Amino acid sequence: MPDTSSLPDLDRRRILLGVTGSIAAYKAAVLVRLLTKSGAEVQVLMTEGASRFISPLTLGTLSEREVLTDIFPDGPATDEGSWTKHVDLGLWADLLVVAPATAQTLAKLTHGFCDSMLTATALSARCPLMVCPAMDRDMYTHPSTQRNLETLRADGHIVMPAAHGELASGLVGQGRMPEPDAIVERVATELADRPYAADRDDHNTPPDETPSSRKPNDSMAGREVLVTAGPTQEPLDPVRMLTNPSTGTMGFEVAREAARRGASVTLVAGPTSLDTPPGVNRVDVRTTEEMHAAVQQRRTDVDLVVMAAAVADYTPVDPSDSKRKKDEEELVLHLRRTPDILETLGKHKRAGQTLVGFALETDDGPENARRKIDRKSLDWIVLNNPSESGAGFGTTTNRVTLFHRDGYSEALPLQSKRAVARALLDRVTRPVPTTQDAS
Ligand code: C5P
Repeated sequence: MPDTSSLPDLDRRRILLGVTGSIAAYKAAVLVRLLTKSGAEVQVLMTEGASRFISPLTLGTLSEREVLTDIFPDGPATDEGSWTKHVDLGLWADLLVVAPATAQTLAKLTHGFCDSMLTATALSARCPLMVCPAMDRDMYTHPSTQRNLETLRADGHIVMPAAHGELASGLVGQGRMPEPDAIVERVATELADRPYAADRDDHNTPPDETPSSRKPNDSMAGREVLVTAGPTQEPLDPVRMLTNPSTGTMGFEVAREAARRGASVTLVAGPTSLDTPPGVNRVDVRTTEEMHAAVQQRRTDVDLVVMAAAVADYTPVDPSDSKRKKDEEELVLHLRRTPDILETLGKHKRAGQTLVGFALETDDGPENARRKIDRKSLDWIVLNNPSESGAGFGTTTNRVTLFHRDGYSEALPLQSKRAVARALLDRVTRPVPTTQDAS
């Protein structure tokens, strides 16, 4: 059982857990336990196949709810458990998580099959659907499975990629179900800004949470947006590099939100393990030079640029083609400045284009942020302080202050990076408030 001391808070959350017929179904017991320990209510929906791997009694006991499998009730339709239960469940939940999700169930979910309590509920659910695939390596990499996962993503569903490692077949590769604690973390992140199903009374309202209508608005339709995210890597030799701990989360959330609002979004991403947000055109790069080239190529067409990448300021002058030997007691590295991507954009800024930079400052944040607005000809800069808890690198939350070139500033509260992305886009796409310093 993983460590439960650092579990996220899922109090009052209602989770539907779909369990399907993979050997990884045994991990569903731990998953139910972690979810309930986090405060969530859990309703398990199992396929017939899953019950060959783990008993409904086990999952029912851990979740303290009867496990549901069949879409048709045993008794007459007037009994508890009538045939409309899948609709009620879909309304009841905050999130439907399918873990493990077999290739078979993924295919059914992709194509709208409706032959079990799990698939029928998925089809009628207004809450988001998150799938955690688990299968053998070759089944996972098969074009059909990958196509299905891509379709699910494009439909607005959440796909947690399978993990790499030993598989039940004896093969090694990608196909393992992500660990239960990682799934619980992801559940918490996905739900961070969503209203609670428990607070809604929408049994009679028309569906407004189907994936296709989950876009909050289309206020950015017709706009071209360029976002950069993640770290860059500057090679010293084939196996070593200069880099930083950026995960890319902030920029990915900005790209996700802009696409949700209807913008045409290009995301230039440094090395990161994040999934491409739905509807976003992603360009992967490694070094600052590569990021610079990718951005310059697109700069004239874009209306809004958000440079959230943690770009390396220096790169080794002479990276070695072969692994450096440790012959010297001391090693002096010769570095040169990398191009300032944002400053170059600022120099060629066209009318109507909005440039947003990020500043990560440990000292004199506001002064440095304002200086960067001037030096790089920015419209906005987003200041965060990596030494503050819950802000900066590697966290799912952030606390930032926005500064506008005209002097306006606004301090936002500590919130998820998704909420920061929404607030940021709200601010930079609307007229600047005239009141000075809302902080
Ligand atoms: O590193 P610095 O504090 O100057 O970064 C401020 C902004 O400039 C960030 O948005 C960062 O992405 C961008 N930047 C850049 N090219 C660099 C360094 C930083 O575009 N070489």
